[in-house]
Amino acid sequence: MNRRYLSQRVIDLKPSGIRKFFDIVATMDDVISLGIGEPDFVTPDVILQAGMRSLQKGETHYTSNAGRMDLRQALAVYLQDRYGVSYDPASEIMITVGVSEALYLAMTALINPGDEIIIPTPCFVSYEAETLLAGGTPVAIPTYVEDNFQVRPDLVEQAVNTRTKAILIAYPNNPTGAVASREVLEELAKIAQKHDLIVVSDELYDQLVYGVSHVCFASLAGMRERTILLGGFSKNYAMTGWRIGYAAAPADILKGLLRIHQYTIMSSPTMAQAAALEALEKGNQDVEAMRGEYDRRRKLIVPGLNQLGLPTFEPHGAFYAFPSIANSGMDGETFASKLLEEERVAVVPGSAFGNSGEGYVRCSYATSYEKIEEALLRMDRFMRRHG
Ligand SMILES: Cc1ncc(COP(=O)(O)O)c(C=O)c1O
Repeated sequence: MNRRYLSQRVIDLKPSGIRKFFDIVATMDDVISLGIGEPDFVTPDVILQAGMRSLQKGETHYTSNAGRMDLRQALAVYLQDRYGVSYDPASEIMITVGVSEALYLAMTALINPGDEIIIPTPCFVSYEAETLLAGGTPVAIPTYVEDNFQVRPDLVEQAVNTRTKAILIAYPNNPTGAVASREVLEELAKIAQKHDLIVVSDELYDQLVYGVSHVCFASLAGMRERTILLGGFSKNYAMTGWRIGYAAAPADILKGLLRIHQYTIMSSPTMAQAAALEALEKGNQDVEAMRGEYDRRRKLIVPGLNQLGLPTFEPHGAFYAFPSIANSGMDGETFASKLLEEERVAVVPGSAFGNSGEGYVRCSYATSYEKIEEALLRMDRFMRRHG
């Protein structure tokens, strides 16, 4: 890194633990990757067609900063019908370049230098980095398998002080697959109310739940007014490459996010907005089919890992299994490196998602059933040698 010209903030930023690993994977043959954090499906055809029609119609210009009004209206209907929470599409919903941008906007809009953001971990790799880039201080609190990786309200309460600005939660969770119960979220809501905190809730995987319901944080009593809800299309609709998501929040807060977006992004990709609208209107059957397939794989990988001596919490959301590797006697980095080297199976060390992820690895089941079967055979050989 160029220390003369780059800012200290950037120099201090740690490279993502995931990227580092995948640079190595990319140089190897015959690897089965359980490391991937995105759907293996191609975007459903109806959605693809809508994106192509948009381009062919010549919709190659900017949209309004907040995004196409019909898409914002469709999102308002989605959030109302699904979660009973109502947002004004004109002033309380904006379209972003994925949840990634929405997260950047939320952190940049909220944080004054030194503000603290409470972040339950293990969590998506960007939360800490986005907080730091915005000049804030991430305050990681651990979650534990004993609590089904749900956030412990008592630990949140202990972490709150006068500098605390927000809590950043994400259920269904990457990397653990945990889904938060209504009771736990209600406890969090009480804490947010008591200390006058904002809750940034990343609900990108909201439709990918298995046998349980997703509770939208903003739908809890009194929470709509203090929640920045982040959602998107990447995972539910297999649209990671389209780069499209949204933020919903009370108008006076959303205005802050929109102001940054106006200057940094202008508007989200136009053809992706057309495709996203189609996804909301016509994508349900495809989501149902993909969810069914993820669930089938989930029912293969979770018992499979358990049988190998890698105790695995039963995930009810997203598409990740998060086995404990304690029986191998290795740390996550060593386990992942040796497994890759010896058996050509890629998993991500849990520590990439925060210190509390140490002792675990993330295995994505967003890969074919057959590949998961083969990966389990290879991991069985590995555990016989190292278990
Ligand atoms: C929890 C979580 N939030 C946000 C993102 C980024 O998603 P997007 O493609 O919408 O930017 C990811 C991607 O893996 C994620 O797992």
